[in-house]
Amino acid sequence: MVEAENPYIPKPAVIEKVIPETEGERAIKTFRVRPIDGEFNFVPGQTLMVSAFGKGESMFAISTSPTRNSIEFTVMRVGRVTTALHQMKKGDIVGIRGPLGNGFPVEGWEGKNVVLIGGGIGFAPLRSILHYILDNREKYGKLIVINGARTSRDLVYLNELERLMDSEDVWLSVDRDEEGWFKLNWDKPDESEIPEGVRKLVGFVPMVVAAVKPSPDNSVAVTCGPPIMIKYVIENLLKLGFREEQIYTTLENKMKCGIGKCGRCNIGSVYVCKDGPVFRYDFIKQLPPDF
Ligand SMILES: Cc1cc2nc3c(=O)[nH]c(=O)nc-3n(C[C@H](O)[C@H](O)[C@H](O)COP(=O)(O)OP(=O)(O)OC[C@H]3O[C@@H](n4cnc5c(N)ncnc54)[C@H](O)[C@@H]3O)c2cc1C
Ligand code: FES
Repeated sequence: MVEAENPYIPKPAVIEKVIPETEGERAIKTFRVRPIDGEFNFVPGQTLMVSAFGKGESMFAISTSPTRNSIEFTVMRVGRVTTALHQMKKGDIVGIRGPLGNGFPVEGWEGKNVVLIGGGIGFAPLRSILHYILDNREKYGKLIVINGARTSRDLVYLNELERLMDSEDVWLSVDRDEEGWFKLNWDKPDESEIPEGVRKLVGFVPMVVAAVKPSPDNSVAVTCGPPIMIKYVIENLLKLGFREEQIYTTLENKMKCGIGKCGRCNIGSVYVCKDGPVFRYDFIKQLPPDF
């Protein structure tokens, strides 16, 4: 008889590369790992439980696409597990469980324009869609990317997104004035007159959405970031004419098991770990009031 695999036991994976993204108190690093045995098949938007042995286990979005034949996740240092991960280097071993959750319906978006709107570490799951579309470029329409952070030193994937500016519609934003960055009209961002060729803006992410005005025609928009950012981004997308079913986001409830067993993450009958973390906005809106 073949014994069923215990889903709680992490599998060892070796760290192949550590990429520093940002510095400071809440520094961010991207880790590339390879499972020591076995395959790991995932879809963009799925998540991973990562163990720093002896410290604990935490959930992270997989921040690259299966088309890249690697597993990457991006970690902001906020506490016990994330600090332990930040201390690790190439060759060290972590535990991984997953892939977990539902992921983005990227195949259903073929032929459409895709708008990715992230704030801070929230761009991590969006990078999985970005890589997937870049590797299947002919199957998708226009790609608009908006990534914002407090300052330019807090922007994740900065070099990668700067390199993409020549070929795709990429916008970066910071919350405070910085030399060389164009300041949006603070009271009426939609009336900002952005000079030709300028792609680096001063303004909160929802203001950038209002100023850049992505078209809702044949489009889907995906937004991840702090809840307050998501709230106002969605408000501005709706003002631009996006319908609720054209908007996707992810939820970040506290997780423990990650497989729909412990009841830590549920909202009513919905388990964010298993049924999410990706949800369409029209679905989120009808969740019970405790959300
Ligand atoms: C679906 C999902 C996807 C996620 N994807 C990512 C990702 O791609 N990258 C990433 O860095 N994190 C991600 N997270 C958050 C990540 O799981 C937590 O940051 C991590 O578990 C913290 O573990 P810790 O032991 O270091 O912190 P703890 O020691 O548990 O907490 C230390 C302190 O940090 C606070 N804290 C915990 N989480 C956060 C947070 N997210 N932001 C700010 N403060 C926090 C706690 O409230 C506490 O005060 C995701 C979470 C979920 C549920
Ligand atoms: S984390 Fe255990 S049920 Fe979702």
